Amino acid sequence: MSKVLYIKASPMKERSNSIAAADAFVEAYKRSHPKDQVKTIDLFSAKLPEFDFIAASGKYKIMRGKPHSPEEKQAWDKVVATIAEFKDADKYVLAVPMWNFSIPYRLKQYIDVIVQPGQTFAVDSAGNYKGLVTGKPVFVAYASGGDYPVGTPAEAFDLQKKYIQLILGYIGLTDIRSVVVAPTLAGGPETAEQKRNAAIEKAKQMAGEF
Ligand SMILES: Cc1cc2nc3c(=O)[nH]c(=O)nc-3n(C[C@H](O)[C@H](O)[C@H](O)COP(=O)(O)O)c2cc1C
Repeated sequence: MSKVLYIKASPMKERSNSIAAADAFVEAYKRSHPKDQVKTIDLFSAKLPEFDFIAASGKYKIMRGKPHSPEEKQAWDKVVATIAEFKDADKYVLAVPMWNFSIPYRLKQYIDVIVQPGQTFAVDSAGNYKGLVTGKPVFVAYASGGDYPVGTPAEAFDLQKKYIQLILGYIGLTDIRSVVVAPTLAGGPETAEQKRNAAIEKAKQMAGEF
């Protein structure tokens, strides 16, 4: 039995295009993997730890090999609990909107919490970084109001997919499969519907081999 963690980074619920494609993937996945468990984190309703002065100080202490103060330990316990929930999964599904050419702030906050030395990445004595969350596949459903095709000048504005690939790869997740719903705004509602339906169909097909 595998455990799937489904992370929703859009606040738009049933109106979200990325969630529509990721939901289709998850439903098809459940049909083809009936014994597996799917846990969902809705980042816009989840209580995420703040990554504030105390938490950042705790991170720097770890990087310098120093012990935590009681306050830092309290904050760090919440960080470690969030990371434990993340690392407990065998597979990941993400619904990711483009916001200001990048990702929504709640997903960035989640990333700032879970990407930690000794937990999800490590640095050896020679200064080499390596990811610690390895051998697990990721499915990402991206959505954006505009279209940013590869090989066009618009591609340079797309920091959504580049960043997700970079940060997942940094913690060891390199098997990243994806669908894109785009444009959801720039081409009008009919184009959006066509693109969403095409992504949903593709997502369903990809779920069987995940
Ligand atoms: C705060 C905010 C910022 C956005 N910034 C961009 C952007 O930079 N580029 C773009 O193409 N679309 C942008 N959009 C449009 C969304 O990417 C689009 O509505 C997409 O469908 C959102 O994903 P969702 O449908 O899963 O919520 C933005 C939307 C919001 C709410």
